[in-house]
Amino acid sequence: MSVFREDVLEGKVAFVTGGGSGICKGITKALMAHGAKAVITSRKQERLDAAAKELAEATESECLGVACDVRQPETVEAALDRALERFGGVDVVVNGAAGNFLAPAAQLSYNAFRTVLEIDSIGTYTVCRAAFDKHLKANGGTILNISATLHYGATPLQTHAAAAKAAVDAVTRSLAVEWGRLGIRVNGIAPGPIDGTEGISRLAPGKARDAMIAAIPIGRMGEIEEIANVALFLCTDAASLIHGETIVADGGHWLGGPAMQLLGG
Ligand code: HXC
Ligand code: NAP
Repeated sequence: MSVFREDVLEGKVAFVTGGGSGICKGITKALMAHGAKAVITSRKQERLDAAAKELAEATESECLGVACDVRQPETVEAALDRALERFGGVDVVVNGAAGNFLAPAAQLSYNAFRTVLEIDSIGTYTVCRAAFDKHLKANGGTILNISATLHYGATPLQTHAAAAKAAVDAVTRSLAVEWGRLGIRVNGIAPGPIDGTEGISRLAPGKARDAMIAAIPIGRMGEIEEIANVALFLCTDAASLIHGETIVADGGHWLGGPAMQLLGG
């Protein structure tokens, strides 16, 4: 049972990159369960079609899957056009598309580093900019950029992703300053380790999972629904003064770090 009124997003339309899987599928589900219609995007149409069907059945709202690659602006623009044609607006933009893997900096190819920045950082800017031109500039709305805490300290084997998410946070702050007067609220969410996701299967495989949990002060990973609740909150008027902020939802993970491991988890 949700703590939010079930029609709190009635009449809103969400455009969610990476919405066919993991955390952003969970965010889409929460937005739809509270009245929003949704367009989910990623590169794989088949996965999007299956997710859109599942989300519509679970929430009794409408969901359209449109394939696009955030590294190709023309495909992003076409996906936004489809969203506008189908639903007449885009009020909430969630940037969740991301790529990541564990790799020491000394073994990253130039292209590997660039690929992650192109998906996470440039992709986030591209989607924000295209949505701004096509709808937000004239109508206002809310942008949520999905970040991480990797760059708050330093994260070995994650030079590429840490740099990419640092840039995402910079985009969040700068757009908040430039676009706030147009009625566009721009915020981010920095999840900690979230159970059952592609991210965790890549970054904390096997025994690394236990070490990661040992470093989280609340003694467990987060759940997708917990990030979805933060997203929902940021989309409602309850968050009307929150602007240019990236909210950390990580059970204290980035504060704890190695010192927590000494406590034995
Ligand atoms: C080193 C790697 C690599 C690896 C790929 N590359 N995987 N290098 N270690 N494990 C290199 C390739 O060799 C290539 O460089 C370059 O990266 C691009 O790889 P491609 O496979 O050609 O790219 P592409 O098909 O576009 O795929 C992008 C991808 C892929 C990021 C590499 O993994 C992907 O599509 N991921 C999407 C899903 C995902 O990653 N989800 C997790 C998000 S979790 P060369 O030089 O050979 O051409 C997340 C968590 C954050 O972000 C924080 C958690 C706490
Ligand atoms: P995920 O399911 O793999 O989500 C990433 C999504 O991005 C996928 O749906 C993928 O779909 C899409 N994508 C990748 N490249 C794309 C491209 N070029 N264009 C369009 N879409 C693309 O992983 P997740 O773990 O749930 O992560 C979701 C978000 O949370 C990411 O921003 C991630 O950085 C962030 N995050 C996750 C964790 C965690 O613990 N999992 C922690 C901190 C932050 P396709 O492959 O079909 O394109």
